[in-house]
Amino acid sequence: MIDFNEPVGYPADAPASQELFDRAAAIVPGGVNSPVRAFRAVGGTPRFMVRGEGPWLFDADGRRYVDLVCSWGPLLLGHAHPEVVAAIQAAAARGTSFGTPTPGEVELAEELVSRTAAEQVRLVNSGTEATMSAIRLARGFTGRSKIVKFAGCYHGHVDALLAAAGSGVATLALPDSPGVTGAGASETIVLKYNDLDAVAQAFETHGEDIAAVITEAAAGNMGVVAPLPGYNAGLAEIAHRHGALLIMDEVMTGFRVSRGGWQGLDPVDADLWTFGKVMGGGLPAAAFGGRADVMSKLAPAGPVYQAGTLSGNPLACAAGLATLRLADDALYARLDATAATIGQLAAKALAGAGVPHRLATAGSMFSIFFTDAEVRDYDDARRQNTAAFKAFFHSMLSQGVYLPPSAFESWFVSGAIDDDALDHIAAALPGAARAAAAATS
Ligand SMILES: Cc1ncc(COP(=O)(O)O)c(C=O)c1O
Repeated sequence: MIDFNEPVGYPADAPASQELFDRAAAIVPGGVNSPVRAFRAVGGTPRFMVRGEGPWLFDADGRRYVDLVCSWGPLLLGHAHPEVVAAIQAAAARGTSFGTPTPGEVELAEELVSRTAAEQVRLVNSGTEATMSAIRLARGFTGRSKIVKFAGCYHGHVDALLAAAGSGVATLALPDSPGVTGAGASETIVLKYNDLDAVAQAFETHGEDIAAVITEAAAGNMGVVAPLPGYNAGLAEIAHRHGALLIMDEVMTGFRVSRGGWQGLDPVDADLWTFGKVMGGGLPAAAFGGRADVMSKLAPAGPVYQAGTLSGNPLACAAGLATLRLADDALYARLDATAATIGQLAAKALAGAGVPHRLATAGSMFSIFFTDAEVRDYDDARRQNTAAFKAFFHSMLSQGVYLPPSAFESWFVSGAIDDDALDHIAAALPGAARAAAAATS
């Protein structure tokens, strides 16, 4: 057995997570540079990580964890994969940024186009930039202003998409965040996920003003909630009947759940797609792409403006290309098998401890809802027992398994998870299930 109090691979006097968090909190709002890292949903001190190697993360307190977050999705091959590291080092040695076109951008764009139905792509730096730009392009192309999105779907911190209120019937949304103006959010119609009737009804009322429907290809930001069979195709049909575009957000699913992303499992006639996470191999790279006639409206080919100083950065392109070139059918089969094994082990442990739960999957993305009711949308997801998740999470953490610190997030596996890591997870689960049971009763 591993002794988690044993310092691993770095000085014993390394500042511990709490001290780093205190220092950060004095000068960084909430002590973190992205909110969910702060552990607010589960309580306790966020772990400051100092190193990653294969399936393992190492924190500043001398503990190691099997990583089931994988940087929120990007690390398909695990941490510090030698070929990805070598590609980044070689690119860095040639120069970090030129502000000119580079060969790596062409190769990465070709790789994306070869794996997906997108005819053209534009590289950007984050998923947020990708969805923001796709929406501007859809509005510019159609000459319309309204956007339909679904409650519980997250598309980055774009003003117009931070409206998630409302369910069931078409609701003109209120902003979710101070600073997002009512005017910006009023162009966003928020509907219940997995409910085509609500979409048809919204188009009956607002059809001529709707530029686009944006949806996560398979929802992963309310926990994992896969689209019902035919749902994504139904969105395309309704949008197109009314002259609107369908934007499929594959920032999370793209190149993770199959070679082509969710569209590789459930091909749908979308007009635009957004990508991120895996395609940057752990460095900041993202993209949006789609129909050539729509994409050609982008500057400098067309009038819709979009730009970026570091877009297509040589290091990010090198990391993304190295990752995607190793992401073959064998890797995806391995990810599927690993995800199925972990999901089933978790479900078995929870069943053994009598904890109500649902294992939800979308390809190799999965999460556990702490409820025995079916979860098809955000309202269902919110009915779960988050206290049970919290106890489960902390037990896993203390036993060296790093889960997403929220009940509303997907778990992510990497190709680096080996038998040792699996054994480690299997050994931790029964105790975590008992902790969840104690929090449930
Ligand atoms: C589906 C989806 N779209 C967009 C984004 C935003 O991406 P980023 O965090 O790179 O801005 C995310 C981030 O988690 C996401 O899951």
